[in-house]
Amino acid sequence: MKKTVQTLRSAKGQTPLVALTAYDFITARLADQAGVDLLLVGDSLGTTVLGYPNTVKVTLDMMIHHTAAVARAQPKALVVTDLPFGWATRPWGELLAGATRCLQEGGSEAVKIEGGKEIAGSVEKLVQSGIPVLGHIGLLPQQVHRYGGYRKFGKTGSEKESLLRDALALEEAGAFALVLEMVDAKTTALITQETKIPVIGIGSGKDCDGQILVSSDILGLTPGPIPKFAKRYDDLAARYQQAFSAYANDVRSGKE
Ligand code: KIV
Repeated sequence: MKKTVQTLRSAKGQTPLVALTAYDFITARLADQAGVDLLLVGDSLGTTVLGYPNTVKVTLDMMIHHTAAVARAQPKALVVTDLPFGWATRPWGELLAGATRCLQEGGSEAVKIEGGKEIAGSVEKLVQSGIPVLGHIGLLPQQVHRYGGYRKFGKTGSEKESLLRDALALEEAGAFALVLEMVDAKTTALITQETKIPVIGIGSGKDCDGQILVSSDILGLTPGPIPKFAKRYDDLAARYQQAFSAYANDVRSGKE
C-alpha cells in the first residue's frame, strides 16, 4: 500500500517508522523493496554523492534532479525533498515556487525544512497551499558555519525548552512529522510524548516514533568516518573495490 502523509501520521506511537535517505533510482527501489516508510532526498546529497565538504552548496535544481530519479522508482514509501540551504527564509513567493517545483518537477510528496518556531509561519502557509512539510530541528546541518561544527542539542534546560517550543510550533503549523537530529535522548523522549505527530530521530536516542539514517553511512559507502550513532550494516566500498579490481585484472590479462 502506498504510504501517505496520513499513514505516517497515524503511525504515531505504533510500529516505529523506518526512514532512509535516497538520491537515485536504484537505491530508492531497493530501499522501497525493503519496506522503508519514508525516502528522504536529503541535501546530504552534497556530502554523500557530490563530494562537497558540507551541504551549503547544494542547490534546488540539484535536489529536484535527484528527487526525480527517486520518484521514477515509483516507491510505496513517501518521497520527501529537502529544501536546501537558504530556502527556508526566502520571501514567501519564492519559497512557495521552490517547494512547488519539488512536487511538480521532482515528483516528491512533501518537503523537509530545517528550522523551528522562526519558520513556523512559512510552514503553515506551505501546508495550507497543499505542500506537506516534514520539520527538522536539533542539529541543523545547513547552519554548520554558524555552529562551527556538529554537536548534541537539548542537553541544557533552556535548549530543552526551546526545542520543545520549536516542536510544538511546527506541529501547530501543520507539519506532518518532525526529524530530531542529534538531540539529547531525554529531550527527544519529552518531545515525542508532548507532540501528536511522529518524531523521527537521527542520533537522538530510541524513545521516538521512528529513525532515519543516511543510506551511504549504513551501507559503508561514505568515505571517512561516519557519525557514532550510525550503524554500518555492510562495507560496500570494499565490495565495490574488489569488483572493480577484478574487472580491471580481467581486462588487463586479456579476458573479454
Ligand atoms: O539531508 C539529510 O540527509 C538529512 C537527514 C540527516 C535527516 O537531513
